[in-house]
Amino acid sequence: MGTALIQGASRGIGLQFCSTLAARGVTVIACCRNPSSAHHLKDLQSQHPGLVDIVQLDVTKETDIIEASQHVKTTHKKLDLLLNASGILSPTGKGETSLRDLTFQRFQETFAVNTFGPVMMAKHFNQILMAGGGMIGGKVTDPKQQHTSVFVNMSARVGSISDNRAGGWYSYRMSKAALNMATKNLSIELGRGKKKVVCIALHPGTVDTELSRPYHRNVPPGNLFSRQQCVDYLMAIIDRATFADTGKYFGWDGAEIPF
Ligand SMILES: NC(=O)c1ccc[n+]([C@@H]2O[C@H](COP(=O)([O-])OP(=O)(O)OC[C@H]3O[C@@H](n4cnc5c(N)ncnc54)[C@H](OP(=O)(O)O)[C@@H]3O)[C@@H](O)[C@H]2O)c1
Repeated sequence: MGTALIQGASRGIGLQFCSTLAARGVTVIACCRNPSSAHHLKDLQSQHPGLVDIVQLDVTKETDIIEASQHVKTTHKKLDLLLNASGILSPTGKGETSLRDLTFQRFQETFAVNTFGPVMMAKHFNQILMAGGGMIGGKVTDPKQQHTSVFVNMSARVGSISDNRAGGWYSYRMSKAALNMATKNLSIELGRGKKKVVCIALHPGTVDTELSRPYHRNVPPGNLFSRQQCVDYLMAIIDRATFADTGKYFGWDGAEIPF
């Protein structure tokens, strides 16, 4: 049934991906900063014996990423899907409303979790992804090509430069715009060889998680997705992803978002 790695799996959208994939019979490598306090992941492990491997990984630490990649290479051998779900609005939990809120520290911490870490995951996991067979999504349209694995970066619509009408949230918007650029770069580098990886950026909609909680009261009724709803939408995109989609940025409804 395939093997998937979810980075940022302790809660929110990442945790829901782990749950949905394990329920399908997929082997899930659930990466989180603090496995000892990851109670929801431990519950999932008990519900799906043998399917959920909890691995320690702080995405801002290259040593953690290297150790996790060595573990996955030795134990699981290949990956069909890698999804980066880690993300923060900013270290304070709120986006900046004006220039006076900006600090180097806010930029550095937000970029480390939202942008640099996810790209460093590609550095250390691309060979393991190339060994995968695209058991989850990643079908190819050219029958001469082998099936491909999928690399997903969880972006946000506010990272679209052309869609920016409200301003604010400097560090979050900039970190996601840079993540989109990284996704495009990865699609080129990991699309050159015989073994290819489909690389896409996804916007999950506004989802009921801790990240969005400070802004829930501004969301019109019906527009706040449950985690299950969001992951159902995003899995449909991943399931039908082909190499024709690589380098693209999709909303939860499957429509392409302009960069
Ligand atoms: N919710 C929304 O409405 C929404 C909208 C657009 C985009 N997104 C994006 O969707 C993704 C998931 O967000 P969410 O709503 O599920 O947020 P969330 O519930 O706040 O979860 C954030 C996740 O990121 C992890 N994380 C934070 N710093 C980390 C680090 N240094 N290393 C590893 N993991 C780290 C957290 O782990 P800990 O438990 O260890 O803190 C947690 O698992 C993010 O990339 C976010 O930008 C969300």
